[in-house]
Amino acid sequence: MTSLDFDGDYGRTYARTIRNSIPAYDALLEIATAALAANGTAASSALVVGPGLGEELPGMFAALPEATFTLLEPSEQMARGCAAVIDREGAGDRCRLLALRLEEAGPLEGDPFDVVVCHHVLHLMHPEQQRQALGQLCARVKAGGLLLLSSYSEPADAETCDRMLAIGQSRLRQLGMAEETLRQFMAGRNTLVFSLDQSLLVEELAAAGLEPPLPLLQALGSRMWLSRRP
Ligand SMILES: C[S@@+](CC[C@H](N)C(=O)[O-])C[C@H]1O[C@@H](n2cnc3c(N)ncnc32)[C@H](O)[C@@H]1O
Repeated sequence: MTSLDFDGDYGRTYARTIRNSIPAYDALLEIATAALAANGTAASSALVVGPGLGEELPGMFAALPEATFTLLEPSEQMARGCAAVIDREGAGDRCRLLALRLEEAGPLEGDPFDVVVCHHVLHLMHPEQQRQALGQLCARVKAGGLLLLSSYSEPADAETCDRMLAIGQSRLRQLGMAEETLRQFMAGRNTLVFSLDQSLLVEELAAAGLEPPLPLLQALGSRMWLSRRP
């Protein structure tokens, strides 16, 4: 992993490579759908930040049958994939796909939302930006609404983190990744992809008045949490 250019090669090969980069990617989407269906079926509005190629959307459309969706996707290439999924699912009349980043979005129709989802975007930001983004995501959750987040997130203590990283590399070798590619992939840690510290998440949710994050999945460094605004 030398660059995360969503409008270049990285975006072009995303659908193939993401399952290497994010362990249990399909399980995560499956559990995300279940979490929304279990908690939010009556939702009338949902905000999806960084839907990428839109693989997460069919599950959301099914789990939230009454909801209209606002999707913030700044990459043209990724948004094209996303638009194709919306079209294929016949969900065009329920979706507003906006070429905006979370931090520049400003007031949005339907804000605050019953459901806010942000999968694998926070780890593209430095910790200080993560803090701000978490505040922005929380602010868009309605009372009684849900926040569903996933991110790369390392264990806090160095020894456990090292063990986790060693197992992660062993997994990538097992999947056939060449040593040079693996070296480049690991060089992306803290330069292209930044761990979301779970204590930062806990702190920011509490500061914004949301419930503590409920861990829904951990697969090596890939984690997903659900929270709610009381
Ligand atoms: C790693 S991909 C995740 C895509 C999808 N959510 C998934 O889980 O596979 C990150 C996506 O977020 C978009 N993105 C990056 N920074 C963003 C930001 N600040 N606000 C909204 N979207 C952003 C990128 O264009 C890209 O499509």
